[in-house]
Parts: sequence; structure tokens; C-alpha cells
Amino acid sequence: MVATLGKTCAALLLALLTTSLTTSLTVAPAAADPRHSYGEPLVIAHRGASGYRPEHTLEAYRLAIQMGADYIEPDLVSTKDGVLVARHENFLDDTTDVAQHPEFADRRTTKTIDGEPVTGWFSEDFTLAELKTLRAKERLPLVRPANTQYDGQFEVPTLDEVLALVKTEQRHTGRRIGVYPETKHPSYFSSIGLPMERPLLASLRRHGMDRPGSKVFLQSFETTNLRQLNAMTRLPIIQLLDASGAPWDLESTGDPRTYSDLTTRRELRRIARYADGIGPHKDLVLPRDEAGNLTDPSTLVRDAHRKGLVVHVFTLRIENQFMANDFRVGEDPNAPGNLSAEIQAFLDAGIDGLFTDNPDVAVSAHEDWQLHQEQPAA
Ligand code: G3P
Ligand code: CA
Repeated sequence: MVATLGKTCAALLLALLTTSLTTSLTVAPAAADPRHSYGEPLVIAHRGASGYRPEHTLEAYRLAIQMGADYIEPDLVSTKDGVLVARHENFLDDTTDVAQHPEFADRRTTKTIDGEPVTGWFSEDFTLAELKTLRAKERLPLVRPANTQYDGQFEVPTLDEVLALVKTEQRHTGRRIGVYPETKHPSYFSSIGLPMERPLLASLRRHGMDRPGSKVFLQSFETTNLRQLNAMTRLPIIQLLDASGAPWDLESTGDPRTYSDLTTRRELRRIARYADGIGPHKDLVLPRDEAGNLTDPSTLVRDAHRKGLVVHVFTLRIENQFMANDFRVGEDPNAPGNLSAEIQAFLDAGIDGLFTDNPDVAVSAHEDWQLHQEQPAA
């Protein structure tokens, strides 16, 4: 309740402060929250430096930190024995060599995950000791063939190992490194007796990262678990908003609200009661038309800021196929486009942070953008 009141008061104060300002305002809304000082727009390494290493490995996270990322982003699922590990989903086939392990052949099964039938191997059917015998592989071998040289080399890390890495790299770099964990399929894991909220907070506590002021954001595409987390911690919370569909916890309980509905001013006000920010799909901020060209910016950044919510967009990737036509270079969908220009367009749109597979490009683009901001107008 204290946390909820704090967030509401901060939102009200911020609304008063921002109503007379223009949309060119960038990071001031977050700084107005007395509990947090987010500073400059954040570079969040999406699944680590996943443009260059197999995602969600210690090596991907370490490289992201070396490249200057402000935060690393572990997505989390649970093992059979309730240990949180870094994977984008509980389905293991796309990012590990599980299919090459005959000793686990009989674990292959079909389940319904968030309403969809899925056939393969699943994290919750493996103890941590068993999962540790698997090795990570590149998710997008055709898009990022250079990364396949690392296939079979790296383990699936636990959240504890990720946090320990952060502590080590902080000592090496002298920088404070943030962690931005996301609970994946939280309703599903709760339904099978493996809820993730307490293990997540316990792990952060073990590493002294559960306090107000800790450089941590908690995020989810679902809403119920974020409301629960809001009652359990004062760490800042981010409501993810996808470009289509609906949060599974709403859909599965008959609540008709979609992600699109959650972007309205009324729903943003409701989000501000339990969250400190939103993490929208980038198309919700800079929409594309059917041909793939950018159209006018939406009002989402301004609307969110007026409710005291920071805005961290996902996901900016260097390959042409992930960009609007405006930033593509050449015809090859896997060739690099002008990610720097795309990032600067989002910074111009007033975002407070961005998830990217290419943190080196984002750090550099942000520096260039800052220099440009500081130059007096001709
Ligand atoms: O959590 C922000 C961004 O990572 C959301 O996309 O599907 O990669 O987790 P996803
Ligand atoms: Ca994520």
C-alpha cells in the first residue's frame, strides 16, 4: 500500500509538472519521481548483447556490460526444483541443445502454454542439475550465422549467477550495472506450483539488490503478477505492452482488455497505480503503415509521461528486417540497417530507455544524440 500510494502521489505531482510542457520533454518525468533518478535514456541489453552472442548466456551479458549497457535484461523461467534461470521461454528447443541429449528424449511432450499447444522440452521438467548439462545455441542462426560459432559452449545461467556476474563486472568496470528481470509466463508457472515472484525477490535480496535505489526494474507482459510484486517490493515496475494481443492473465480470465486498450489514458492511469513505467513495442511509439514506412509518432510517450510513467521501448535490432523502411540499407533482410538513426528517432520521440540486441550501437548513437542536443541552434 505504501508503495502504491507513493506511485500515485508521484504520478499526481508529475501530472502537475508536465501539463504545461511540450512533447520534446525527454527524461524529466522520471527524474521528478523522488524515489528514482533515472537520468539519461537507458541502454538496456536485450537478453544480453544478443546480436553477438547466444542470448541469455553469461557471455552475452558480460559483453553487453563491456559495451557500455546501463542494464542487462534476463528473462526468467523456472526449473522443476524452483530455481529461476535465464531463458526467453520455458520451451528449450530453440536456444539449447536439448534435442541432442538422448537421456532426455522421453521428456519431449506437448503442453498448452498461454493458450497455445507447444511440443518440445520445457524448463519445468528439468532440475537445475539436469538443465546445467545442456548448452546454449543461437536462436537465429540464419539471421546471425556468426553467432553459431558459440553454439554448444555456454551454460544456461541461473538468476543468481547473473547477479553475481553483475557484481563482478561492477568491480571491474567501476560502473553501476543495472538488472532488468522479466518473469515469463507467470500465470502458467503459478498454475503448476512454481510461482516466480518470491524466488525473484529472494535472489535480488541475496545480492543486496532489493532495496529502494537498487538499479533494478521488474517487468512483465502480464498484469496480475506486477500488482502482486508492487505489494511485495518498492523496486520499480514496468508494464510491458505488445503491439498486438492481450496479457494472458486478462485473456484467460475473460477480461476483454487488449494491449492496445492498455495504451489509453484511462488505462495508463490505472497502470500508474502499480507500475513506474511502460515497456511498449516500438511500433506503439513510432507506428509503421502497411508498407512498413514510419508514420506520425503516437501520443503514447506524452500520455505516459503525464501519468508519471517512464517509457522503455523494445526491441531495437540492427538487421534490416526488424526496422521500418526508413532505416533500411539495401535489400538483404539480414544485412545491417541504420540502427543509429532508428535509435535517435526514438530518442527524439522522448523515450526514457530502449531494449536493444546491439548495445554498442545504442551507446554510440546515444552519445551522438546527446552531443547534438547540446549544440546551440544555428
Ligand atoms: O522485455 C522487453 C522485451 O524484451 C520484450 O520482448 O519477448 O524479447 O521478452 P521479449
Ligand atoms: Ca524480455
